[in-house]
Amino acid sequence: MSEVILIQGSLNKESRTALLVRHTEEELKRSGLKANTLDLRNIQMEFCDGRPLKDYHPEVQQAYKAIEQADAFIIGMPVYCYSVSGPLKNFIDITSGAMEKKIAGILCNAGGKQSYMASADLSNILAYESHVTTLQPIVYSSYEDFEDQVLTGEKVKSKIQELVNHMSRNLKNNS
Ligand SMILES: Cc1cc2nc3c(=O)[nH]c(=O)nc-3n(C[C@H](O)[C@H](O)[C@H](O)COP(=O)(O)O)c2cc1C
Repeated sequence: MSEVILIQGSLNKESRTALLVRHTEEELKRSGLKANTLDLRNIQMEFCDGRPLKDYHPEVQQAYKAIEQADAFIIGMPVYCYSVSGPLKNFIDITSGAMEKKIAGILCNAGGKQSYMASADLSNILAYESHVTTLQPIVYSSYEDFEDQVLTGEKVKSKIQELVNHMSRNLKNNS
């Protein structure tokens, strides 16, 4: 069975990105795929300084291996200053080698409705550094898609479904 790793990139205790990621994990499982989430809130991670992987915290090394072994991955990205948040970028700087030539999805979560181009930064990083193909659609959410820590945006949920269907078709065609 194909496995998808989800990377939850926010460190906020009340993260909305985490809600997007959880919903997507459930949809992946419903479509018959194996899915597991790496939540950056639960991983001890140093700043990337170019040291060998073996010198990072064991949890970072485990995360690297989990991504490397997966068939595809989906990144939940909080938007900070119109781009990828610092901690998530740091995680990618350390683990980009594990992402090489895989397919990926992007869940981009921001405060406002105008920051959707931030996801293009992530797509470019993945393409140029790791030759990753980003599947469409890119999912975009903002504050108005959540109520009391619940994902309520119907358009967002339908985009997640589309992304999951696309990923599932892609993985089945290549297995
Ligand atoms: C440092 C910082 C920068 C932010 N920059 C933007 C931004 O450029 N555009 C935007 O729409 N929201 C911005 N936001 C709002 C976050 O994207 C929003 O709070 C989002 O829910 C964060 O994801 P999280 O809830 O998973 O932590 C920013 C928030 C912080 C803390």
